[in-house]
Amino acid sequence: MKVTMITGDGIGEEIAQSAMDVIDASGADIAWDIVRAGEAVYEETGVLIPDKVYESLEQNKVALKAPMTTPIGKGFRSVNVSLRKKYDLYANIRPVQSIGALETLFEKLDLVLFRENTEDLYAGIEEKISEDEMRSIKVITRKSSERIIRRAFAYAKENNRSSVTVVTKANIMKLSDGLFLDIAREIAAEFPTIEFKEILVDNMAMQLVINPYQFDVVVTENLYGDILSDEMAGLIGGLGLVPGANIGDEMAIFEAVHGSAPDIAGKNLANPTAIILGGCMMLDYLDKTKESNNIRHALDVVLSSPENFTHDLKGTATTSQFTRAVIEQVQQQ
Ligand code: NAI
Ligand code: MG
Repeated sequence: MKVTMITGDGIGEEIAQSAMDVIDASGADIAWDIVRAGEAVYEETGVLIPDKVYESLEQNKVALKAPMTTPIGKGFRSVNVSLRKKYDLYANIRPVQSIGALETLFEKLDLVLFRENTEDLYAGIEEKISEDEMRSIKVITRKSSERIIRRAFAYAKENNRSSVTVVTKANIMKLSDGLFLDIAREIAAEFPTIEFKEILVDNMAMQLVINPYQFDVVVTENLYGDILSDEMAGLIGGLGLVPGANIGDEMAIFEAVHGSAPDIAGKNLANPTAIILGGCMMLDYLDKTKESNNIRHALDVVLSSPENFTHDLKGTATTSQFTRAVIEQVQQQ
């Protein structure tokens, strides 16, 4: 099975290699079509996303992607946002699951966030009114809201989840968030066996820290989802542990939630767990669940020994030591 691997900036190259090595060790039989995008490519070639990336994605339809640096303020659109919009990858799914024996704020947490991925303030509609006034337009449509909310409920039903919580700020943005909430209420009525909860985003931010166990599946708009998923990652040990899927009707791109971590790039310090778990979501999508379960189990075992903890988990293991430990565990199983 051929899939695209997009390597990126910062720690991108290191963790992409780690993920490929682990997935290869699982025997999943993936042929990697490796292409590059991001800031480093821009500096060499003048384009952030070379045509090769699009060609490979259009051919393979499935990709694993390392993080990219988005240059700030130069009029660039993030590679992620561009790909999500171009290929209408409307569902951003971020499972936040406790792993191993890490010292974290909460244990045995199992949340799944569904984030709308194509509109909201990330639609890229910005307007300069004057030197001293800029506007970013928030776009919420029935079509995009309906499909992400429906997907969250369908997931909850298929996976025997108890509740779906919709997060908005509908008390203030009565039109845009009001529409998102109205649609959530309509769809909730189609799923009477799943408990439906509504919460405002500021309260959600606090409740997650006080008692995250009250939530299960969470569905929200693009900006709130971006912020809340980083917060959720913090509850289980940080950004190095949470993967994400960007799924449309025709294509799916899997990734780590975190960015290119320029502060630790090239130092063999990055934790590759998130992108490896992104790889597991990709294997699930390709119906290679035996291999994905094997890798998840291996990560759980490896992250149960503090000697394997990377820098972000207050340990001393390097990226390559960690990767080796995971590969050994994968091969033992
Ligand atoms: P970041 O996620 O790159 O880093 C935040 C903090 O978490 C840093 O201290 C970093 O060292 C740490 N961290 C992140 N991932 C880690 C890992 N796997 N192992 C160990 N430590 C890890 O966020 P930041 O610094 O805000 O953004 C840096 C760049 O990444 C920006 O250019 C941003 O646009 C881009 N970015 C790209 C994303 C993507 O390609 N999917 C997503 C988010 C940001
Ligand atoms: Mg983010």
